[in-house]
Amino acid sequence: MKQGQAQVIRLEEYQVPFYLAESLSLNIDLADDSTVVTSTAKYTRHPKQPTATTLALHGELQELLSVKLDGKLLSEGEYTVDDEFLSLSNLPESFKLEVSSRIYPEKNTSLEGLYQSGGKYCTQCEAEGFRKITYFLDRPDVMTIFTTRITADKASYPVLLSNGNCVEKGDLENGRHFAVWHDPFIKPAYLFALVAGNLEHVSDEFTTMSGRKVALEIYTEAHNIPFCGYAMESLIRAMKWDEERFGLEYDLDIYMIVAVDDFNMGAMENKGLNVFNSKLVFASPETATDIDYINIEAVIGHEYFHNWTGNRVTCRDWFQLSLKEGLTVFRDQEFTADLHSRPVKRIEDVRMLRTHQFAEDASPMAHPIRPSSFIEINNFYTVTVYEKGAEVVRLYNSLLGQDGFRKGMDLYFERHDGQAVTTEDFLAAMSDANGADLSQMEMWYNQAGTPEVAVTMDYDAANKTCTLNFAQSCPDTPESNDKAPFLIPFKLALINLAGEEIALQIEGETADQADGHDTERVINITDATQSVTFVNVAEKPLPSLLRDFSAPVKYSYDYSTEDYIFLMQHDSDDFNRWEASQRLAQQLILQMLDERECGVAIGVSPEVVDAYQQVLDNADLDPALRAEALSLPGESDIAGLVAKADPEAIHEVRKFFMTTLANGMRLSLDAQYDALNTNEDYTVDAASIGRRSLKNTCLAYLSLIDDEMIHQQCLAQFENANNMTDRLAALSALADTDCPEREQALKAFEVQFNDNPLVMDKWFAIQAASTLPGTLEQVKALQTHPAYDANNPNKIRSLIGRFAMANLVNFHAADGSGYEFLTDFVIDLDTRNPQVASRMIRPLIKWRQIETQRSALMKACLERVHKTDGISNDVFEIVDKGLAG
Ligand code: TRP
Ligand code: ZN
Repeated sequence: MKQGQAQVIRLEEYQVPFYLAESLSLNIDLADDSTVVTSTAKYTRHPKQPTATTLALHGELQELLSVKLDGKLLSEGEYTVDDEFLSLSNLPESFKLEVSSRIYPEKNTSLEGLYQSGGKYCTQCEAEGFRKITYFLDRPDVMTIFTTRITADKASYPVLLSNGNCVEKGDLENGRHFAVWHDPFIKPAYLFALVAGNLEHVSDEFTTMSGRKVALEIYTEAHNIPFCGYAMESLIRAMKWDEERFGLEYDLDIYMIVAVDDFNMGAMENKGLNVFNSKLVFASPETATDIDYINIEAVIGHEYFHNWTGNRVTCRDWFQLSLKEGLTVFRDQEFTADLHSRPVKRIEDVRMLRTHQFAEDASPMAHPIRPSSFIEINNFYTVTVYEKGAEVVRLYNSLLGQDGFRKGMDLYFERHDGQAVTTEDFLAAMSDANGADLSQMEMWYNQAGTPEVAVTMDYDAANKTCTLNFAQSCPDTPESNDKAPFLIPFKLALINLAGEEIALQIEGETADQADGHDTERVINITDATQSVTFVNVAEKPLPSLLRDFSAPVKYSYDYSTEDYIFLMQHDSDDFNRWEASQRLAQQLILQMLDERECGVAIGVSPEVVDAYQQVLDNADLDPALRAEALSLPGESDIAGLVAKADPEAIHEVRKFFMTTLANGMRLSLDAQYDALNTNEDYTVDAASIGRRSLKNTCLAYLSLIDDEMIHQQCLAQFENANNMTDRLAALSALADTDCPEREQALKAFEVQFNDNPLVMDKWFAIQAASTLPGTLEQVKALQTHPAYDANNPNKIRSLIGRFAMANLVNFHAADGSGYEFLTDFVIDLDTRNPQVASRMIRPLIKWRQIETQRSALMKACLERVHKTDGISNDVFEIVDKGLAG
């Protein structure tokens, strides 16, 4: 049984490898029922391992054919081979090793290593997939020069791609042909890629800041070529942005992107040859939403930015994953912020962090952005490593300023180009470049959990001083019950009764020193408790706290409903005006949950309705920000705030709150909707995205009102929309309403888009997220729909993932039917694709947060998975952690 073997890998046990590879030449012979890979490497003893004479090469799921040492064929007694390693001993200081093995890509359903998708061959090597292709040192601190020769049938696979430059190609006998690719940059094996298929491409060109021309190519099947334009434009914007903001230039003569339909994640930054999930490449106004467009640009940027933060400077080991991912997410966030609306981008990133990362931090899977142990590294490509990691990088940017941050980046590349390094190296570059002591930043790397800052204020009217007191703490998490204080840059302002920011002068500071910081300041909280006193504060102010979400923490302050309403109107900071709208809704929903439990009738005061209506009607405010303010915390956000959450109660109360707002604001909703419903031409720019967003937010509210005219209005928008954003918004409003228009629209959508897999993903997802009764039966039925594919991760995430992760009320059906369904599904999927299975099981590990009866049912499901024979290490690790403690 596999879990018997589950081995824990620990950061503290890191050792440099015994040997390094000077070069690797691959010969990959693709054939229909088996593929033969021959790799030749020159190995040399690591300078820090002078006595080493043994070498264990990673290798899995291969049939070893032959091993040659310095040209001599070894007999079976001269090496050992098991499920994980090919081991050799008595080795000299340096030698050449040639290994041949047979692999079966057409049977590979794990989508890791070499596999087939839509008739073409492609690879996914991060994190440890290269070892399914050939025997090698599959670890990121072994970087080498790759030369790859691919051979395949020419008619079926006319295009043969790998990393770097194509240095030779030609025809062979039997209708076969070959291509040789050489990558002049050293890289670890996880950045290797190969693609072979019948592909077309779009091309463009970019001239770098130093005047070099780079060929840009995006590959896909012929029929998808018309959908690649936006991805190409995005790539060019990303290349330009990285030159301007970070002085970073592309280094090869060609940059290729390949779109594939079957992909475990979003995209992969293989050197010079990115492989993308097709959902992050293809776009047209009729098939992609505004969110899709923004995501495509962001991920194209993300993978491109990895060329420096990840590829040129890579990770020493996989515990350092956030070194490249946190930094690269920060870079892609800044890219989007610079190109579109900075406040909207910040709001959306914070929303995402709170919904998903705070939840992970509160779950048994909580881990620091640099974990210290794991069983399966694939389980640690998480919102913590990525999104919280990006917040930690953002802290340097706040502490050092944008120029100081840039100095740190410059020094990081100067020191580490061509190396595999650690998060400590990054911290050192930031601090050395700025002469700053950043040692306390270390806590963010080795302590998990979301820190909580309790804030109180003392106003002294006689002395006109205002003191803010901060007390930080952090809940226990699996790796630690006793945490050292974090360095928390806490941005704030004080607002007077007229709604103006007060000039901030800290006690003991001269007016001169205070000058320049003026009305908004960052207080660096370093201790468990700490205070700051402001002088010359004429009247008791209202604090505007944690502006711009200046650190990934929670904070509490005793705000009243009136305070929030005041801040919604008067806070001069866009982000915190939005924040007030969210915290107000949250506070009221929590109150109503308590009242409901005590049997008290619930209600929403007219002042509250009026506050949201004023935001809606505020013509001075960017429509996108009005829409954000009206998009209230989701059901799972609320569930994360209460002990023993009752999903049904949360669904009802939140819906009641929104429906009350909808009825109260109806005239304004109608007026705004009509004003915005102009059928303008579709363009992707912040202003028109914002207008669509507000219009569709209005429609979503209106659809909560039980009125036939509104069903008709939704159907009309569905039918007349000139773009997918509006069409899908209307469909999604109808999907939650039990009316004949619902069926009509779903059917029409299916007929129109049946042959477009990416659009059908949206159709599956909308139905899976419906809060109407009978949704589980519908999800089960849709698994047999011709457009569904049980092996395609996008389909799985759209249908099953959406049901389990975005449908609180139906997934948590009181009889446990949702849990049983997910459990059966995961056990089956795990036999084919463990990586995706182990993501799908995660909703169940939150059993401790749910009310007792459901909680017991969830736990029983985890136990059932735990004792299933032959479960993968991937799923085992999650379930085992989910049950522990
Ligand atoms: N490095 C990729 C990124 O963040 C992530 C990734 C793509 C990945 N495919 C994967 C990680 C498969 C693990 C397994 O850009
Ligand atoms: Zn990445």
